[in-house]
Amino acid sequence: MARAENRFVCQSCGAAHPKWAGKCDACGAWNSLVEESVRASGPPKGLGGGAKGRSISFVGLAGDTEATARRKSGIAELDRVCGGGMVPGSALLIGGDPGIGKSTLLLQAMAALAQGKNGAKLDCAYISGEESLDQVRLRALRLNVSGAPVQLASATSIRDIIATLDHAQGPQVVAIDSIQTMYIDSLDSAPGTVSQVRASAQELIRLAKSRGFTVILVGHVTKEGTIAGPRVLEHMVDTVLYFEGERGHQFRILRAVKNRFGPTDEIGVFEMTDAGLAEVPNPSALFLGDRNREVTGSAVFAGIEGTRPMLVEIQALVAPSTLGTPRRAVVGWDGNRLAMVLAVLEARCGVPIGANDIYLNVAGGLRISEPAADLAVAAALISALVREPVPPDTVVFGEIGLSGEIRPVSQTEARLKEAEKLGFVSALTPPRRLRAKEKAASTPGLQPREIAHLRNLVAMFDKAQGVTRKLGTGGGRA
Ligand code: TYD
Ligand code: MG
Repeated sequence: MARAENRFVCQSCGAAHPKWAGKCDACGAWNSLVEESVRASGPPKGLGGGAKGRSISFVGLAGDTEATARRKSGIAELDRVCGGGMVPGSALLIGGDPGIGKSTLLLQAMAALAQGKNGAKLDCAYISGEESLDQVRLRALRLNVSGAPVQLASATSIRDIIATLDHAQGPQVVAIDSIQTMYIDSLDSAPGTVSQVRASAQELIRLAKSRGFTVILVGHVTKEGTIAGPRVLEHMVDTVLYFEGERGHQFRILRAVKNRFGPTDEIGVFEMTDAGLAEVPNPSALFLGDRNREVTGSAVFAGIEGTRPMLVEIQALVAPSTLGTPRRAVVGWDGNRLAMVLAVLEARCGVPIGANDIYLNVAGGLRISEPAADLAVAAALISALVREPVPPDTVVFGEIGLSGEIRPVSQTEARLKEAEKLGFVSALTPPRRLRAKEKAASTPGLQPREIAHLRNLVAMFDKAQGVTRKLGTGGGRA
């Protein structure tokens, strides 16, 4: 016999508890338990009762499965992040802060797919649970896509949505904005709770797999920046994309964090304009656009995002501290990594920098996670400390080891080629294993200079010698 039972489910990890508590035992989140009722049918019986199962058949790894034809939207930045287009029968989850542009991106993508900007016209449906039809139409007008044959609906009941989509002539791409607004009426909990989100997503993904349409789900993010609701949502879908950007900047970055059909370190760069999101095919030029060349505390880092080289400016400010514990503020980079670079500068190169307030900023709102940025950060820091600019038109990259040695990084050639393309004439790089002739041939317009130890970088700055010497005589600040 079915009986109603209440349990308390953590909204951040999905763990179920029999009693309410202030803190979730499973993930340690505070104040995250919400009461939900489940219809349980007694204790699970294992495989005891019931009919005998059918045996499943096994097949070999080789077979005549066709290579899946990708559905390209024609928005190149989006297609690349998806691994070359969307796969039929797959599920895609897009997360991001409110107002970052998820609905805008989705509407533009749907319009492009429906208009067949890149080949075949696809049957597209856009189901909004957050905005009214008028709101979506006004947005379409603003984006200049109101002529696109997208089927628009405003609905939140999964039962209705499934009934509408579950036939052979259904749409080929379905966008759900957002999964947190959807609900299943047989569950007692409110929309947006773990069980509703999980069950709604499960139904949609199951139908997408059986009918072969691509489903794109929008997911809200929590204060901590992860997609709200159960972590299992990320396991259920095939691709997870995050749409991020700084509030004050017009750049938006679409990042793949999971992709069953492509690489995960790809990014797509967009710019928010008054007519929607515009693609940025050459982000380096944009990120370096309004750079002041002869300024101290600035270095251009030649980075790699996914398969694409990208140049960004790293800015540092070093100022004498009036505090007992000097201030460290980092935007766009890892604070622990900065602490390491400072420690190596101090302990291995004798640069007395630790007692200063230090501010570090990656210009343009990009977030860098590559260790290859170490050397560029060190260059910006030393330049700020000694008030001497980094040599003009120079890019910098390399990983710093704890003993101060500079380690090689991947894709050196791609980084140098991008720098050369953008008019840079020299580079500070880790030692390379190529022969001199090969080096000269790879980038004729650019003069790489190999740095074997961080000490060599410090020595490049004229006044730095004076700075390091002061350490011996007890002088602290520059
Ligand atoms: P939206 O797509 O609604 O964000 P999300 O769905 O992620 O919450 O984006 C809304 C923001 O984008 C809003 O602050 C206004 C801005 N915007 C533009 O600047 N230009 C445009 O053409 C559009 C449609 C929105
Ligand atoms: Mg929205």
